[in-house]
Amino acid sequence: MRNTGQDLKIIVNGLSVSYNDEGPINAPTIILIHGFPLNKSMWDLQLEALKEDYRVIAYDIRGHGNSDAGDENFSMDVFVNDLLFFIDALNIDKPILCGLSMGGYIALKAIAKFPEHFGGLVLSDTQCLGDTPEMREKRMKAIESINKNDVEKYAEESIKNLFAPDSFTTKKEEISAVRKMIVQTSKQSLSYTLFALSERKGTCNKLQDIKVPVLIMVGKEDKITPPAAVMMMHEKIKGSLLKVLENASHLANLENPSGFNNQLNQFMGQFLDKTVPKYSLKELVP
Ligand code: MLT
Repeated sequence: MRNTGQDLKIIVNGLSVSYNDEGPINAPTIILIHGFPLNKSMWDLQLEALKEDYRVIAYDIRGHGNSDAGDENFSMDVFVNDLLFFIDALNIDKPILCGLSMGGYIALKAIAKFPEHFGGLVLSDTQCLGDTPEMREKRMKAIESINKNDVEKYAEESIKNLFAPDSFTTKKEEISAVRKMIVQTSKQSLSYTLFALSERKGTCNKLQDIKVPVLIMVGKEDKITPPAAVMMMHEKIKGSLLKVLENASHLANLENPSGFNNQLNQFMGQFLDKTVPKYSLKELVP
């Protein structure tokens, strides 16, 4: 039997995974994969916007939000395996994956490994390249700093890069929600994930094999995965759609939720069964 609602728990791959699952069971299913160092609550507005027509699932990656961290070291492969076990445990057929940044790295790797498992892909503020040596170096310094200082310091530094300058005046609530997500993540999970990110392999050489519908979005002011880097994925994924969102940096879904949700809704429309008319009780019973 399916459980619906927020903060549900399921044991996957020996790990307790926390997730939200809403919307009609037989509708096309989208799985939202959060960025680093955030958690599933970053998708609350997308869940609200989609749940009337689609089954929408957002889960906490191991060590983030309310999911267990487990005992093994983190890697993109471990995260992909968790995702596959999660999909299996919930008995979902051909979900559409939507990943932001690290969520996109996971989605890209998952589809490269198991192309037949997925019905579509939404890539937001992400890229197919692995880390440069400079980026790796930065991550090692961040790990050192996290372990010497309070997580608050790391949160403040991360926030500077995650949001567009204007968002600091227009999106104060979102910024404090993101700060809370970061400081709630344990030092160990922050360090393990930074290390996993630094070790990840690029997926650019797999992009031409993607055959499902793909929507790519990026905030115009994104400094972490800038539009130019995102453009490369668009060029390599045949038939993909690219949308650059105004008034947004790296957390485009939080900074420009209406633009993001419009694109997402339009993209998802193609998965609805158009042959079954949608009735509204209000229209049938005046
Ligand atoms: C994220 O938002 O997931 C991170 O910025 C990813 C990264 O640091 O590469």
